[in-house]
Amino acid sequence: MADAPLLRLAGVRFGYPGAPPVVDGIDWDVPSGAFHCFVGRSGCGKSTLLRLAAGLLRPHDGTITLAGHAVQGPDREAAFVFQRPTLLDWHTVRDNVLLPVTLRGRASPADQARAGELIHALGLDGLAERYPHQLSGGQQSRVAIARALLPRPALLLMDEPFAAVDTLTRESLHDVLLAACRAEGTAVLFVTHDLAEAVYLGDRVAVMRAGRLAQAQDIALPRPRTPALREHPIFQAACAQLRQAMQAAT
Ligand SMILES: Nc1ncnc2c1ncn2[C@@H]1O[C@H](COP(=O)(O)OP(=O)(O)O)[C@@H](O)[C@H]1O
Ligand SMILES: [Mg+2]
Repeated sequence: MADAPLLRLAGVRFGYPGAPPVVDGIDWDVPSGAFHCFVGRSGCGKSTLLRLAAGLLRPHDGTITLAGHAVQGPDREAAFVFQRPTLLDWHTVRDNVLLPVTLRGRASPADQARAGELIHALGLDGLAERYPHQLSGGQQSRVAIARALLPRPALLLMDEPFAAVDTLTRESLHDVLLAACRAEGTAVLFVTHDLAEAVYLGDRVAVMRAGRLAQAQDIALPRPRTPALREHPIFQAACAQLRQAMQAAT
């Protein structure tokens, strides 16, 4: 099993009641530690696909395997980061980060230390005792990522987590996210409508169109990514090619 992918989607199909399939036969593997992006226009089925991978919806056809077992429901190997940070307003940053633990019981000293490490890794030093309304949108996103990483999931499922922040803040969040996932060895399946975001983050990017994956390519940019790579010819060429695939008639 050493070579089995962390996440495998095989022939996955799903439709909402009384409507045609919105995820229409997806095959995809995410290896351990990889960063994969699906990019597609609004309504193409990105959020539905992530909900399927997270076990929040069950496929009508096909199978979803995570760390060697069939996904039957929410799974401890995977954590979800939503479009909005979904923090609890009456909890401090520290307590929001600790939430995956405190939902089940008391936080141990090891959990507290882990939360402190993640607060530091996500660039939130000095903000641990603040409440969400005292944070910027970008800082709230950082808290949501720290919270998702707390239980050491093997996989993060991210649904346009930076769609609501401004461009420069989003670009700094890219670097923070990449550094944190690299340090933790966490694999990511990230969906977005933003081509440049997908190319900057991903080892591999697929275009999703009308519930299917239309084109996939490896992104041969060096790691760690640095902001200057946004000007690199490989970056520009990948964006142009994926844009064409996104615009092609379905
Ligand atoms: N709960 C739902 N019930 C019925 N239709 C839905 C539901 N959620 C999404 N859809 C429809 O499924 C399609 C794909 O939606 P979604 O997966 O949210 O796409 P994306 O995240 O790419 O914007 C859209 O046509 C949307 O209207
Ligand atoms: Mg969506």
